[in-house]
Amino acid sequence: MELGLKGKVALVTAASKGIGLGTARVLAKEGMKVVISSRSQANLDKARDLLVAETGAEVLAVQADMTAHEDLERLVDAASKEFGGVDVLVYNTGPPKAGTFAELSYGDWEEATKLLLLSAVTLTQAVVPHMKSKKWGRLIYITSLTLKQPIANLVLSNTVRLGIAGLSKSLSRELAPHGITSNGIIQGYIRTDRTVRLMEEKASKTGTSVEEAYKELVKNIPLGRYGEPEEVGSLAAFIASEKGAYLTGEMFTIDGGYISTVF
Ligand SMILES: NC(=O)c1ccc[n+]([C@@H]2O[C@H](COP(=O)([O-])OP(=O)(O)OC[C@H]3O[C@@H](n4cnc5c(N)ncnc54)[C@H](OP(=O)(O)O)[C@@H]3O)[C@@H](O)[C@H]2O)c1
Repeated sequence: MELGLKGKVALVTAASKGIGLGTARVLAKEGMKVVISSRSQANLDKARDLLVAETGAEVLAVQADMTAHEDLERLVDAASKEFGGVDVLVYNTGPPKAGTFAELSYGDWEEATKLLLLSAVTLTQAVVPHMKSKKWGRLIYITSLTLKQPIANLVLSNTVRLGIAGLSKSLSRELAPHGITSNGIIQGYIRTDRTVRLMEEKASKTGTSVEEAYKELVKNIPLGRYGEPEEVGSLAAFIASEKGAYLTGEMFTIDGGYISTVF
């Protein structure tokens, strides 16, 4: 299927590893110019070299902390200078601090709001003028299964990320006349460095092997496995594509059947 993404510019944030890197890989394979960001220039340089070697795409790697407003403005400026502007924003973040409500301070809530909500506001404000000028754009916000199924010790994720669903829906209505769509992704358990580390911790706590811990964890996933970062990336690519032109204002779940509610 021809997705019509060749030559367009994607900005994928929090993309030196995991879901962000997997998404950048899929978009680069589709012939897009890709800008990736994260906190560590060393991690980014490694990721950029990998993407270039695998796909031959043009890749720009820009250090930017998702909690720093100025970093995110500088990131979009750098993307515009190098490639002329951002056509597709794939918003992804690092994880917020874990904890129950009782364990979290007011400062933790402020940080999580910067990380999981204000970062989306800043990036969207920065990329939309170019999209409007081209009368074409795609906003894609990667969130978490916690939007639909809260996790006990992830109260910050359970709460703050919900704002993204409201933001994306609002944007879909406001920006439709400009040819810009806005959608979100709700991903379930995806195999990344972070989830592998969590599995290793669980195995060492329970005195089992990592393989046994994995088998236990996937018992509640009907498809019986974790998803791969590139599977999230393929969904993002379809939403970004010309084939996905009639999709807007939606939150798309990709979870191997894990969430048991109908909507
Ligand atoms: N994997 C899952 O099963 C799953 C499920 C639901 C939701 N999620 C959410 O999806 C997101 C990605 O998860 P993942 O599993 O792909 O994580 P990961 O493998 O740990 O990758 C996280 C990425 O975010 C970057 N990052 C972390 N904090 C950042 C910050 N403050 N500013 C900029 N970049 C930052 C990291 O790079 P640097 O270290 O170089 O900054 C890295 O590239 C997280 O928000 C996570 O909570 C994941």
